[in-house]
Amino acid sequence: MKDDVTSREERVENLKGMGCSRKRVEDARFTQGKGNYVDDIKLDGMLFGDFVRSPYAHARIKNIDTSAALEVPGVLAVLTAKDLEPLGLHWMPTLAGDKQMVLADGKVLFQGQEVAFVVAEDRYAAADGIEAVEVDYEELPVIVDPFEALTSDVVLREDLVAEDGSLPDGAHGPRKHHNHIFTWEAGDKDPTFDTIDAAEVVAEETMYYHRTHPCPLETCGSVASMDKVNGKLTLWGTFQAPHAIRTVVSLISGIEEHNIRVISPDIGGGFGNKVGAYPGYVCTVVASIVTGKPVKWIEDRMDNLMTTAFARDYWMKGRISATKDGKITGLHCHVTADHGGFDACADPTKFPAGFMNICTGSYDIPTAYLEVDGVYTNKAPGGVSYRCSFRVTEAVYFIERMIEVLAIELNMDAAELRRINFIRKEQFPYTAALGWEYDSGDYHTAWDKALSTVDYDGLRAEQAERVEAFKRGETRSLMGIGLSFFTEIVGAGPVKNCDILGLGMFDSCEIRIHPTGSAIARLGTISQGQGHATTFAQILASEIGLPADSITIEEGDTDTAPYGLGTYGSRSTPVAGAATAMAGRKIRAKAQMIAAYLLEVHDDDVEFDVDRFVVKGAPERFKTMKEIAFAAYNQAIPGIEPGLEAVSYYDPPNMTYPFGAYVCVMDIDVDTGVTDIRRFYALDDCGTRINPMIIEGQVHGGLTEALAVALGQEIAYDDMGNVKTGTLMDFFLPTAWEVPNYETDYTVTPSPHHPIGAKGVGESPHVGGVPCFSNAVQDAFRAFGLRHTNMPHDHWRIWKTANELGLHD
Ligand code: CDP
Repeated sequence: MKDDVTSREERVENLKGMGCSRKRVEDARFTQGKGNYVDDIKLDGMLFGDFVRSPYAHARIKNIDTSAALEVPGVLAVLTAKDLEPLGLHWMPTLAGDKQMVLADGKVLFQGQEVAFVVAEDRYAAADGIEAVEVDYEELPVIVDPFEALTSDVVLREDLVAEDGSLPDGAHGPRKHHNHIFTWEAGDKDPTFDTIDAAEVVAEETMYYHRTHPCPLETCGSVASMDKVNGKLTLWGTFQAPHAIRTVVSLISGIEEHNIRVISPDIGGGFGNKVGAYPGYVCTVVASIVTGKPVKWIEDRMDNLMTTAFARDYWMKGRISATKDGKITGLHCHVTADHGGFDACADPTKFPAGFMNICTGSYDIPTAYLEVDGVYTNKAPGGVSYRCSFRVTEAVYFIERMIEVLAIELNMDAAELRRINFIRKEQFPYTAALGWEYDSGDYHTAWDKALSTVDYDGLRAEQAERVEAFKRGETRSLMGIGLSFFTEIVGAGPVKNCDILGLGMFDSCEIRIHPTGSAIARLGTISQGQGHATTFAQILASEIGLPADSITIEEGDTDTAPYGLGTYGSRSTPVAGAATAMAGRKIRAKAQMIAAYLLEVHDDDVEFDVDRFVVKGAPERFKTMKEIAFAAYNQAIPGIEPGLEAVSYYDPPNMTYPFGAYVCVMDIDVDTGVTDIRRFYALDDCGTRINPMIIEGQVHGGLTEALAVALGQEIAYDDMGNVKTGTLMDFFLPTAWEVPNYETDYTVTPSPHHPIGAKGVGESPHVGGVPCFSNAVQDAFRAFGLRHTNMPHDHWRIWKTANELGLHD
């Protein structure tokens, strides 16, 4: 921070406020190994707990013998469902209104399910103890196909069938079958069906968005420490929503909430995986109470991939209708959603299929109808929004594939088909057929910019030449041009629409300005690598005129941070970012009164200018925010309380709707199925940009995870319910080797209702990226008759597609 700044430009620069590519303040500790992750927490006498897990996907548990395990040196306790039952903790509520076994109660429903919790002096003794626990399983028929589940006599969730065989309603209404969870509808069925039936052109397609996993580099874990003397429980964990975890722990344990302190220390990536509650959290708490010592549980990679929250697993059947000229008239989507053994999806209560009802995408579609059936199978529970806002990636993949299929049906260019159907700028705020009110957008400008930057016409001409060369036998490589245009929906609340377990989805910020003009701000969110400590300080710097470098941002400790609903679904900027700006404005309002007093003028006669209040018309008369902060603590000002603090709980009036236009140019070797991404162009519009460099980093990360999902990453099961991709040898996690150079670009269409006009961005590239990579693969084969093929497009599947199209003949 410079002391001698005078010009306005220098003062602005000195703040490092909004729009500045401020370097990430977090990185000093991350790059020097000084981060403090859950596994770094070491407490006196700390024990280690780990799970006996089921090798079977569906089996009855006839007996669990823990006696030999208790003889293993270093093993102190082995918990089973029987031990948890008297405490009412053998089952726990899920975020989706279902309940889930903490430890297997009578049967297991997926491979890797938690059966017993071995508590030992260290990780090694716990592993030996696990080996010594004897579980007598009786195998039951396994169902991994949701369609089979809906017709099978095999009852997966016996706890959800009444004694007389009837089916009590689930959390989301009536159930059609014992393996059925819910049906959720949005839109108008009859008008949509009538429109489609009467349409000039209809395209139909069924697509499977495969099961995958967020796979954060740091796996899940927790450390519980019960201080029996003071009655206080401290729980550290990889929590994306620490306050919600505190409330849930209080509700299920009976410990009063003020006696629970939940701390999310540094988190090594979340991507939705760390939103829900896992049996490990409950077991560390119980084990700490039982043993009187702190207990740690940290998953290994296989545990994480096989048992913690998966993503996607949606079978989507679509029909889209249009006029002969390509104007879309109707859309119908039916989803069969495989939720595994328990419905542990992390969605707002009223949205059992998340925001899948944004599946009309960026298009002005007059009538639409969506129906989702949730189904139990013998797979791991979860259903989280892996780097997307509550199933938006499924919705966008669906519509962006339907557009491509419709373009084939119409024999039309897919870019042009999009352009014809985009919601026009003057239509915003736009109410979509499935109910959402899009806040702002300028899709045509973004699309034109994207297409002209990549020379779209030139690319199509090159592609046509390549097809001809291929047919002449001069090349074995095809060229795909992947297009996608997406609209995200981020920033859940508002409270009236969105809650999780009854907790309204607002967020919060509390600011304390210190007398010397530095500050601390605490938020209800928690960064998992997104750089909140950097960017939230930038918002405040611009709002309160103190340099970002003088502002500490703190998140993740429920004893100090105001209540908030946490970080997922790119909600931090739209909700907590807004709370930060609003709290900053409260500070500024008080500062204005103090400045006016100090300058001996009326409050209305001073105005804010960068880092100070200036007397209107007399710029030489001012008080800097630093001077005002000092005065707030050191000067008795009539009618004004000492101190300079503010808190804001922000209930957003609407979501924000970021959007983007992506183009991928890919070469595909027809004989090996190997893909080479020659170019990837990503234009994002996240409204007002707080930190362009961080946005670029978010886009790179999101695109890389999109590449992973589109081109190879999956959680695959065999017919016995064995996980075939439970290690990083089989589960595709891209490295620098596979990742192309990304070209990033932007337009700025501010959100009209957000205090600083910002929309979220963290997930946009993932949401837009997956269909773009997938469309590139599929577009390469369009000239040879391919209509649709499911992801993931690994080399083998691409080779198989080429083979099925007769390209190897
Ligand atoms: O909720 P989450 O932090 O995952 O997502 P986000 O709100 O989209 O923010 C991701 C990162 O990008 C944060 O550091 C934001 O402050 C930053 N960002 C930004 O600089 N400008 C925006 N308009 C949106 C986000």
